[in-house]
Amino acid sequence: MKIGVLGTGAVGKRLSSRFAEVGHEVSVGTRDVAVTSERDSWFAEHPELALRTHAEAAAFADVVLNATAGDVSITTLHLAGADNLAGKVLIDVSNPLDFSNGYPPMLFVKDTSSLGEQIQREFPEARVVKTLNTVNNTVMAEPKQLGGGDHTMFLCGNDAEAKTVVTGLLAEFGWEDIMDLGGIEMARGMEMYLALWVRLYPAVSHGNFNVKVVR
Ligand SMILES: NC(=O)c1ccc[n+]([C@@H]2O[C@H](COP(=O)([O-])OP(=O)(O)OC[C@H]3O[C@@H](n4cnc5c(N)ncnc54)[C@H](OP(=O)(O)O)[C@@H]3O)[C@@H](O)[C@H]2O)c1
Repeated sequence: MKIGVLGTGAVGKRLSSRFAEVGHEVSVGTRDVAVTSERDSWFAEHPELALRTHAEAAAFADVVLNATAGDVSITTLHLAGADNLAGKVLIDVSNPLDFSNGYPPMLFVKDTSSLGEQIQREFPEARVVKTLNTVNNTVMAEPKQLGGGDHTMFLCGNDAEAKTVVTGLLAEFGWEDIMDLGGIEMARGMEMYLALWVRLYPAVSHGNFNVKVVR
């Protein structure tokens, strides 16, 4: 599958490498290829992860993944282009974090909406699936490194076929306990879980943890 990962932060790097490792063709999107290449030699060391503009990465892809800062995700997806997202599975791993008052961050949308819903509303022809936002990037990519993989990943979205595609990609990473919570409005719960995650982080002393829904 051709996967376009929008974002060059820790998540973009980790997930693009992992997609390539499990056999996909990957392009990584950024605002300015020259600026990002200059800033970060990591991409020169990984030429198999073709660094392109957001629009080029999205146009190349069958499946697009949003790994940009939450407050710029919608702006970035506009750079990728609604036409390049139309009809495609759009995996959203972003969180609506607001650090304006320091740590722990607040959420800039919650309770009555979510960033996942805002993205779906802004790009109605994209098939948005929210997932992976509830764990750090190490756990996202290598769930079996943690407790042998016996922990839960959530997903939600309005398009059943898109969720099947994403479930398959998660399984390739090693996820086994994948819970479909329902429509994209369930992103509210997945994003508001961050209020607990950011408080577990100092208590655990590192970010490699997750929860298991025992049922
Ligand atoms: N870090 C984690 O382990 C983790 C875990 C769960 C969820 N998430 C979520 O995943 C997303 C990515 O997180 P991250 O830690 O990898 O990186 P990040 O620092 O949140 O985002 C990096 C990306 O955001 C873009 N960006 C930053 N400022 C921008 C601006 N003003 N305008 C346009 N684009 C801008 C950068 O674009 P350029 O490439 O153009 O510089 C870069 O691609 C976030 O929404 C985060 O909340 C992260």
